[in-house]
Amino acid sequence: AEPVERAIDAMAAGGPVLVHDAADREGETDLIYPADAVTPDALARLRNDAGGLVCVALSDPVARAFDLPFAREAIDHPAADGGKLSYGDRSSFSLTVNHRDTYTGITDDDRATTITALGRAAAAPDEIDFADEFRAPGHVHLLRGAADGVADRRGHTELALALADTADRPPAVVVCEMLDDAGGALSPAGAQAYAERHGLVYVEGRDLLDAFR
Ligand code: 5RP
Ligand code: ZN
Ligand code: ZN
Ligand code: CA
Repeated sequence: AEPVERAIDAMAAGGPVLVHDAADREGETDLIYPADAVTPDALARLRNDAGGLVCVALSDPVARAFDLPFAREAIDHPAADGGKLSYGDRSSFSLTVNHRDTYTGITDDDRATTITALGRAAAAPDEIDFADEFRAPGHVHLLRGAADGVADRRGHTELALALADTADRPPAVVVCEMLDDAGGALSPAGAQAYAERHGLVYVEGRDLLDAFR
């Protein structure tokens, strides 16, 4: 099957999927899971094999339901200068959170608890009082998807949410950059080799955009 089709199947099955955005954007490959499928073992893979920042992207309607702002708008400090990133996009960062049932918030168990709860919350936002379940700040970075999705912004945030939507998973996805041993972004070739070694799907952002637009 085509990479896009295999990526959708892999998301439907709980992931992970590797998504490279574009050489003229970040030029990064993120390891992506549906939030509700994340286990402590998945967290260990994100830390050890991806190595970037573990974030959970929520769709715009879910972020709205929970009153989750963009950090670039919410932070009242001169350093919050509009969230413009060096490659021209606006930042999708929102709050950081921990589930209230966690201890430090950073262990694999704790982050998996926070992340699966975010997946459940995103599946039924009307049934949840966000502040009852989560506290901010915490150890999981929330990202907020653009209102018009990939039509408006083509980050891993929107690509991963579009993939989850097509795969019929709740609008909450974990994304984490893959870094190499020298500390730089893992190259597309390196990411493809990792995917092959582990029987995972690697897909190009432009192929997802072609399929979803
Ligand atoms: C947060 C990031 C990542 O690049 C993540 O992929 C989300 O950002 P974007 O939607 O801009 O790709 O910087 O760790
Ligand atoms: Zn990034
Ligand atoms: Zn990204
Ligand atoms: Ca990235």
